[in-house]
Amino acid sequence: MIKVAPSILSGDFAAMGKTVADVESWGADWIHFDVMDGIYVPNITFGMPMCRAIRKHTTLPLDVHLMITKPERYVEEFCRAGADIVTFHPDASEDVRGTLLKIQALGKKAGLVLSPDKGTEWIAPYLDIVDMILIMGVYPGFGGQKLIEASLEKAREVYRMIHAQGRHVDLELDGGVTLENAREIVDCGVNVLVAGSSVFNHSNPSEAVQILRNL
Ligand code: DX5
Ligand code: ZN
Repeated sequence: MIKVAPSILSGDFAAMGKTVADVESWGADWIHFDVMDGIYVPNITFGMPMCRAIRKHTTLPLDVHLMITKPERYVEEFCRAGADIVTFHPDASEDVRGTLLKIQALGKKAGLVLSPDKGTEWIAPYLDIVDMILIMGVYPGFGGQKLIEASLEKAREVYRMIHAQGRHVDLELDGGVTLENAREIVDCGVNVLVAGSSVFNHSNPSEAVQILRNL
């Protein structure tokens, strides 16, 4: 089963309650929540207060993607604000294992993100504890970019690594997912698709979500 996590980065920031309710009505599995700090990535979005606010408008799992420096400073607050899954970039953290364990100790799922220029050595030491690996299909910071082809080979490699160590670990791909390339992405072993522009800009978002879920 493929899970679809629409990214509300492509939604209406002035109507986030409605945006998440819409995403739920489209039949999505998770809500992808992109946190950017203007330092780790060249863009700024929203933080814990927004997470707390939208939590009241949906029962779907909130998949919080932290594109921030030293994520260890904020993971606890995001967990308390209603995040269900928290992922961060290991190259941004001074204590990757401790941060993963902190998220899990709060009863939430913890994952690591690989940017296009980061190799699998950044995640290999943590495959014994992670709940999810997120492969970026684009350089993080903005929605609506084109998938970087090399991300597919990286997804295949990570899938093999996950498979080799025997635990269930979700494999998510974020950035550049379209209705046209999703099949190829899923064939690499990816089981969670983040989709921003391809769902929100579709004339029938509900249909777009169903196409992706039923690949
Ligand atoms: C990019 C974000 C993505 C983004 C994806 O930095 O992490 O989640 O919203 O948007 P699309 O699907 O439009 O590439
Ligand atoms: Zn994201």
